[in-house]
Amino acid sequence: MLIDSITLTITLELQGLTESFDRGIEMCGIFGCILKDGIAAPKIHAALKRLEYRGYDSVGEATVKNRRLFVKKDAGKIDEVHSIRNLDDLPGRIGVGHTRWATHGAPLQVNAHPHFDCSDPPRIAVIHNGIIENFAEIKKELEDIGHTFRSKTDTEVIAHLIEQNLKNSELNPETVTSELENAVMDAARRLEGSYAIAVITAHEPDKIICARNESPLVLGVADNAYYFASDIPAFLPLTNKVVFVENGELVTLNDEGFEIRKLVDGSKVVREPELVDWTPAMAEKQGYQHFMLKEIHEQPRCLRDTLRLQDKYLELLTTFLDRAREVIMVACGTSYHACLAASYMFSKLSFLATHPVIASEFTEQHGKSVNIDSTILAVSQSGETADTLAAVETARQRAATILGLTNIVGSTLTRVSRVYIGQQSGPEIGVAATKTFTSQLSVLSQLAIRLAKKRGKVSQEEIDLLDEKIEKIPGIVKTIVETQERKMKALARKYKDKQCFFFLGRGISYATALEGRLKLMEIAYVPSVAFPAGESKHGPISLIERGFPVIFICPPDETRKTLMGNIMEMKARGASIIAVCEEGDEEIMKLADDYVEITKGIPEVLSPIPYAVPLQLFAYYMAIERECDPDMPRNLAKSVTVK
Ligand code: F6R
Repeated sequence: MLIDSITLTITLELQGLTESFDRGIEMCGIFGCILKDGIAAPKIHAALKRLEYRGYDSVGEATVKNRRLFVKKDAGKIDEVHSIRNLDDLPGRIGVGHTRWATHGAPLQVNAHPHFDCSDPPRIAVIHNGIIENFAEIKKELEDIGHTFRSKTDTEVIAHLIEQNLKNSELNPETVTSELENAVMDAARRLEGSYAIAVITAHEPDKIICARNESPLVLGVADNAYYFASDIPAFLPLTNKVVFVENGELVTLNDEGFEIRKLVDGSKVVREPELVDWTPAMAEKQGYQHFMLKEIHEQPRCLRDTLRLQDKYLELLTTFLDRAREVIMVACGTSYHACLAASYMFSKLSFLATHPVIASEFTEQHGKSVNIDSTILAVSQSGETADTLAAVETARQRAATILGLTNIVGSTLTRVSRVYIGQQSGPEIGVAATKTFTSQLSVLSQLAIRLAKKRGKVSQEEIDLLDEKIEKIPGIVKTIVETQERKMKALARKYKDKQCFFFLGRGISYATALEGRLKLMEIAYVPSVAFPAGESKHGPISLIERGFPVIFICPPDETRKTLMGNIMEMKARGASIIAVCEEGDEEIMKLADDYVEITKGIPEVLSPIPYAVPLQLFAYYMAIERECDPDMPRNLAKSVTVK
């Protein structure tokens, strides 16, 4: 292995520093390639850039040539590390790369991937996304027989396990496949927890071996190369032929192609590549300053796509919901807000009581009561959120029916759902969910309308109106983006130094308020509070003093009259009122210090879709004003694959 001398010195220095940290909990991006010819390192570097949304506190690459490993890794964002280490400058046509996001354990060079076996120079390099739950026990075992560890990460045990298995296989001539495959397979069988791993070695330098359990892994197939990655955008500019690797599978990539085996018994799995219709351009910024802004602007198109969902899937899901004794919706963050809004839709239109539950609370709250009569509707853009999948697993173990709504077909959620539906948003790269939120709402409202039709609970006239209005939503959102962007920019300039905001709404607009508040907090770092407007007088109003900004979501629904009272209460105490209201709503506009106008005639149940859009723009421009990077908010990652 070659590590340049500065890198090596830093590695040694940092080893001392890392002693106090437990381990890195990983939520990362992985990529690797076998090229027929050419140099792998620049391809790995470019792919890691496309995966940076999965994690961005350290980066590393390893390649193999002439039975030697070459490595560069360091803490920092990819561009920072590249400017010092030149990530394109590693020899060989085979290699792997990793971009890391840690929640525990500092983002130090020594904790960056790849991790190695004991040899010096190392002969085995491993990258990993996930958490090895039994790493401490394995580490102790390996240390007891003489293995020496460099880092404090859980990942490093994998490299040592493989090393040990290779040593043992020298004593055992009955190797069925290659020695390395067997060694990785046996190592993977020992691991508990979640992982997508990839291994290259000096022993068998012509192959990459990957394995998966819970963490995402996809293969890319091109004429002159084979790729693997955590996510399709990593190799989308290189190929759109993909193979989804399932849990409990091991993959060997070499010049001839890929071979998939089941970890449990080594049996071969035949799986043909599928074509994905995302173009590389879809995964790039297309001239916008940030992905988030591009994705806000994409909403009209995404919403139109949600209206093209296949009838049979909508019908199937609706039938499951109709028959359900109890419907619990589980999700996190923005997806939870979509569920909360949906609970109003289902109740008002289809008279179906649903319980939106924050996924990380599900097991505590419903773990004992969920049963064969329960229906779980899990909503997750990524389909890989660990908390959501854990809730689904609890429900599955108790024989509940699992329904899924996700943006990533092929994700774990689609595989564990009895029926799932894709939300058609295309890749969302900005860490903050925007287009995926409005698309989720569109799909959920279509389900609620369908169920209303099935149950005959609302008049035909109302159904016809909803059908007509939902078709208009993409156009309305387009108008809002086109007409209100400048205004939101100006409001961000005006309010940029405020220390805290309230976001208030009643009824379904409470969900919109929660979403507006989450966007502002997560990307512009402004501590904010959202609650149903009726709650003000039960406590929060005591915070109000002159100039305190309060954002009211005021569609002209049944709650408007009482909401007016809440606005006046706030105004009387000196709050600055920012109202998101219907076009021409003079009464509210007169009360407000600032207002944003939304197209007339939107039915209440659809209102969160257009009313959320100015709040997304406000958060985006607040982040810009406050010099925060909206695409990569600190401490966050796009896909939260740890609990
Ligand atoms: C906020 C945001 C997160 C996600 C949450 C769930 O902008 O993006 O709150 O909504 O992590 O992610 P998914 O929907 O992938 O399960």
